[in-house]
Amino acid sequence: MNIGGIELKNNVILAPMAGVADLPFRIVCHRLGAGLSYTEMVSAKALEFNNQKTFRLMETEALPTAVQLFGHEPETVARAVPLAEKMGLFVDINMGCPAPKITGNGEGCALMRDPVLAGEIIAAAVEAATKPVTVKMRAGWDMEHINAPLLAETAQKNGAAAVTVHGRTRSQFYSGSSDPKVIKAVRERVTVPLIANGDVDGAEAALSLMEETGADGVMIGRGSQGRPWIFGEVAAAVRGEASPRLSRREKMEIAIGHIELIVRFKGERVGILEARKHAAWYIRGVQGAAALREEINRAVTLEKMREILKKAIDED
Ligand SMILES: Cc1cc2nc3c(=O)[nH]c(=O)nc-3n(C[C@H](O)[C@H](O)[C@H](O)COP(=O)(O)O)c2cc1C
Repeated sequence: MNIGGIELKNNVILAPMAGVADLPFRIVCHRLGAGLSYTEMVSAKALEFNNQKTFRLMETEALPTAVQLFGHEPETVARAVPLAEKMGLFVDINMGCPAPKITGNGEGCALMRDPVLAGEIIAAAVEAATKPVTVKMRAGWDMEHINAPLLAETAQKNGAAAVTVHGRTRSQFYSGSSDPKVIKAVRERVTVPLIANGDVDGAEAALSLMEETGADGVMIGRGSQGRPWIFGEVAAAVRGEASPRLSRREKMEIAIGHIELIVRFKGERVGILEARKHAAWYIRGVQGAAALREEINRAVTLEKMREILKKAIDED
C-alpha cells in the first residue's frame, strides 16, 4: 500500500486512540507487524502554542507514523502541519471524534456537518504540507445524515492522499456495529487509498471487511488492545499465509516487554499507573483474570507487574 508516495510494508494499520496509541504501544504494534500507526489526536492549536505535553504525544521511533490533528480553523491546522512534519510524521485530520468537548468546538465529527469548511481545512493542510495528508471520518453525523461518500470525495478533491472511514455515525458513538455498506459507498466515490475501520477483531473480520468494501487497507483500534500481535496475524492473512499462533507464554512476554517500554519512556511511577490498563487487557480471558486484575490495580512497581504477568502464564 502506498499513501501519497509513502510505501507501507503492509496495509494493516493501528488506529489513533487517545490514551492508548502512545509511543510504547506504537513501537510494539510496529514490531509485531503494523504497516502504519496513527498517534492519538493532538490539538492543532496546542501545537501552535508550543505545548510541550502535546509535542510529547507526537514523539516517534516507529515509522511510518501519522499524527492526527484536530482543529476547526484552516489557518491553525495549516500552521501545525510543518511542526508535525519536522518530527518525521505526516498528518491526518480528525473528522470522526464524537466527544462533545470536541464536537462542541466544531471539531472532530462536527466537521462532517460542514463539508465546505472541512474541504477548506484539508486544502489548507495540503497546501502547507510536503508529505501526504490523510483524513479520518465516520459514516456521518447520524442515520439521517450519512455523508461519508460526499466528504471523502471532498477530501480527495482538496488533495487528501487517503481516507479512513469508521462505519458508525457520531450519534452511535461506539454502540451498534460499524456498517461496511457506507465504506463500500465511499469506495465508489474515491480513487485514493481507502482504509476501512470498525470492529476488526482478527484476520477473518479484516479480510471480509476489505472484500466487502473494496478498501485497500484496514485500521484496527480496540481489537489491538492487549492483542498487538493482531497486526501480524492480519498481515499474514492478507498475504494469503496462515496466521502465526503465539503461545500464552509468548503473549505474556510481549506484555512484559511492552510494560518495560512504558516505564523506560515515562519512568516507573507514571509508567506503571499507565500500564495498568494495558496489563488488564493482556490478561483478558486468562483463568483467574479477576483476581489478577485486582493485583494489577494495586501494582506500583515494574517488578510487581512482571510477577503478575508471569503468574498469568502459569494460570493458563
Ligand atoms: C480509547 C479510544 C480512543 C480513541 N481515540 C481516537 C482519536 O484520538 N482519534 C480518532 O480519530 N479516533 C479515535 N478513536 C476511534 C478509533 O480510531 C476507531 O475509529 C474506532 O475505535 C473504531 O475502530 P475499532 O472498532 O477497530 O476500535 C478512539 C477509540 C478508542 C476506543
